[in-house]
Amino acid sequence: MSIFPRISLKPEVTEYLKSVFLNKEVLTAVGHQEAEHRFHKLLSCLSHPPSYTCVRASTHLAPLEEIRQQLAEELRKQLMCSSSAEEVSVQILPHPRIADVLILPVEGPRPVKQLGSEVVVGAQCGGAVLRGAHVFAPGILGSPKYMKAGDLVSVFSDLEGKCTRGATSFQGKKVFVGNGVAEMDRSTIFCTDEPARGIGIRMVEPLYRSPSFDGVLPSLAFLQNLPSVVVGHVLGPRPGERILDMCAAPGGKTCHIAALMGDQGEVVALDRIRNKIDRIRQNAQMLHLQSVKAHCFNSTLSVSSDPAQETEGPPFPPESFDRVLLDAPCSGLGQRPNMGSTWSLKEICSYQPLQRKLFHAAVRLLKKGGVLVYSTCTVTLAENEEQVAWALDTFPCLSLVPQEPHIGAEGMPGAGLPPEQLRLLQRFSPELSWEQTEITAPLPCRADSDTIGFFIAKFLKN
Ligand SMILES: C[S@@+](CC[C@H](N)C(=O)[O-])C[C@H]1O[C@@H](n2cnc3c(N)ncnc32)[C@H](O)[C@@H]1O
Repeated sequence: MSIFPRISLKPEVTEYLKSVFLNKEVLTAVGHQEAEHRFHKLLSCLSHPPSYTCVRASTHLAPLEEIRQQLAEELRKQLMCSSSAEEVSVQILPHPRIADVLILPVEGPRPVKQLGSEVVVGAQCGGAVLRGAHVFAPGILGSPKYMKAGDLVSVFSDLEGKCTRGATSFQGKKVFVGNGVAEMDRSTIFCTDEPARGIGIRMVEPLYRSPSFDGVLPSLAFLQNLPSVVVGHVLGPRPGERILDMCAAPGGKTCHIAALMGDQGEVVALDRIRNKIDRIRQNAQMLHLQSVKAHCFNSTLSVSSDPAQETEGPPFPPESFDRVLLDAPCSGLGQRPNMGSTWSLKEICSYQPLQRKLFHAAVRLLKKGGVLVYSTCTVTLAENEEQVAWALDTFPCLSLVPQEPHIGAEGMPGAGLPPEQLRLLQRFSPELSWEQTEITAPLPCRADSDTIGFFIAKFLKN
């Protein structure tokens, strides 16, 4: 069901996206009416959360069924605490094709009544609430003047980034995401020298209800979007190999790769932002993975000019790795739910050159016969199919190879790639099934299509 307005973007960004989704090749393939219909569905589904939560199970530590049962028990206890019912059941299903994935339905949108007291949060925080999170204090922009801990409030997400911090009321574009109880007074949130931390509003009646995984089986259950889990399987790491994850923080895919290798071999994780490296290490430690080696480094500079250099950390000699993952920094326009972005067209279009620099390093660091996987969580052609066309042109040693599993759609026409190459690409396109999702198809059927927007290409270096 569509309950929010479509994603709020700058007009120039909406026009740009429209030109992408209604490009000449798409119009020839599906016709103007269908292309326009898909584009409008895209804008609408981006502002809504997927209808299930995806958990990657640590099958390197325990069998899937055992993890499923433990998780059901933990979540059942959690629900018993927050519900008056004597018996509550939790539905957790194994993904029909991916051996380490569990899926849990999200309940919503639920009929929740708005209250008189309003708290306004940023769009990113509002999106997290729609995926089951409580409101953390730094996400709060405005609250009633005399809000006290214990007050019941309605939470709204600021769509256009116009609410000023500390506001006592806000008349701009906002969307209701549920009701909660304040855990702090207004003065603790806004009137202190130190920024407030921790839960500011505990959501008791969220518009979309999904279990909270905060502290639940941390070493066995890792929250991850389905396409991100697919990336690890598509890369296909084997025990004993040396793998490079070039843009790794917070390390979800790094840890998955290490788990798929049974923690045998080496997974080198690079990220340019120093404090994000700690997150990679914490995640690896939490999941009991020793083979992850994380370094703070700009991956565009990760190829050593000295081919004989032998160090544990970057830069590395050319042809050092069996497989390389380039999960590139991108415009992120596939993220769901995303009710509003204030980015300019310039910002949206700024990633292509950086992705190409990273790609150059990736190809040089890969051994001959090795596998390179390129992925993004965005929907533009410029960062996806156009990058593939450019890469095939620039590096004659690269060829596209089939992906396993391939549960998403194929690549989008528009970058001049022939149909046989588009078929080798995997594009998760939630807009293609957005109506189908509304017709309450059984969860395992909609799991593969009701995802974030995502793109995966797999290359072999010949
Ligand atoms: C899409 S996120 C990676 C998500 C990660 N692969 C995961 O699954 O958890 C992109 C990351 O690239 C990092 N990044 C951006 N430019 C970089 C560069 N030149 N070198 C290394 N990392 C970079 C960002 O800090 C960000 O953490």
